Amino acid sequence: MKIAVLAGDGIGPEIMAQAIKVLDALRSDGLAIETEAAPVGGAGYDAGKDPLPERTLSIARAADAILFGAVGGPQYDTLPRAMRPEQGLLRLRKELSLFANLRPAVLYPELASASSLKPEIVAGLDIMILRELTGDIYFGQPRGRRETDGEREGFDTMRYRESEIRRIVRAGFDTAMKRSRKLCSVDKANVLDTSILWREVANEVARDYPQVELSHMYVDNAAMQLVRAPKQFDVIVTGNMFGDILSDEASMLTGSIGMLPSASLNARGFGLYEPIHGSAPDIAGRNLANPLATILSAAMLLRHSLHQEAAAQRVETAVRKVLAQGFRTADIAETGKRTVGTKEMGDAVLAAL
Ligand code: IPM
Ligand code: MG
Repeated sequence: MKIAVLAGDGIGPEIMAQAIKVLDALRSDGLAIETEAAPVGGAGYDAGKDPLPERTLSIARAADAILFGAVGGPQYDTLPRAMRPEQGLLRLRKELSLFANLRPAVLYPELASASSLKPEIVAGLDIMILRELTGDIYFGQPRGRRETDGEREGFDTMRYRESEIRRIVRAGFDTAMKRSRKLCSVDKANVLDTSILWREVANEVARDYPQVELSHMYVDNAAMQLVRAPKQFDVIVTGNMFGDILSDEASMLTGSIGMLPSASLNARGFGLYEPIHGSAPDIAGRNLANPLATILSAAMLLRHSLHQEAAAQRVETAVRKVLAQGFRTADIAETGKRTVGTKEMGDAVLAAL
């Protein structure tokens, strides 16, 4: 089984090195996996003036799954949009039709005090956000800049076809069926035509899932409810932009964005797995970043794309164990616990494995 390893920029290479240590250990124990690294994002631009070099895309296509780090950095901020690191990730999602982005927000009991919310509000929190990943205002045409009445104007297009809405909403219902059978669809149907269609299609799909209780919520209210009473949610399904924002918000309920993995899947179950945090250029190269989200992304990859449930659980159990042992990176540091660097955290997981 082949894993394409795209570490990217900023803290990407550091956190990826820890996940690779874990995968190497599993291989030594007999798991038949191979990894192949390739540059993406700013690293792709540096290597070949392209955030998604042709060779990287073909390695990704030929693999059974992709493990992704993070992209972006201030040195690339002034490049034309097509050359920016983020485009490497967006194009990869689009080229491989990775439309279903699963972003779990789970609070580890050991980290209850790391959340900025009161422990009783977040204790036991376990939410799954399904974000549509290949449509919406991130890809809609026309977009660009023009001059209007003598001043600069920027514009983007929010759009969804019903087939795009239907397949992600369906994924939401399927996920809800495996959990508590409650699905909340988030939109802005009081203002946006795109959202009115979204809601219509969600209600149509609901007829095929009579066992699931579907609710609708406006995105501004959802943002508020997530910090007021987050445990009212189980599965949330929403569009690309709303999901981008709400999943960052939900991640902080759990204490740190440095803890959360994600899966981006296409219709065949092929997937790209990545931590939901970014490239954190401010702490890059300083052995400060939390590698656990990437290690947990590798576990999701083992489970969903390689069907290695036992190996996935082994990794997740090791992560729980190091948290119980008191190992903490700076983002989740607590008095009385042992603050360690990126590499030491990776070593601790390896030892616990
Ligand atoms: C994410 C990130 C990306 C996105 C960026 C890096 C393009 O914020 O995965 O949430 O907006 O989707
Ligand atoms: Mg984001």
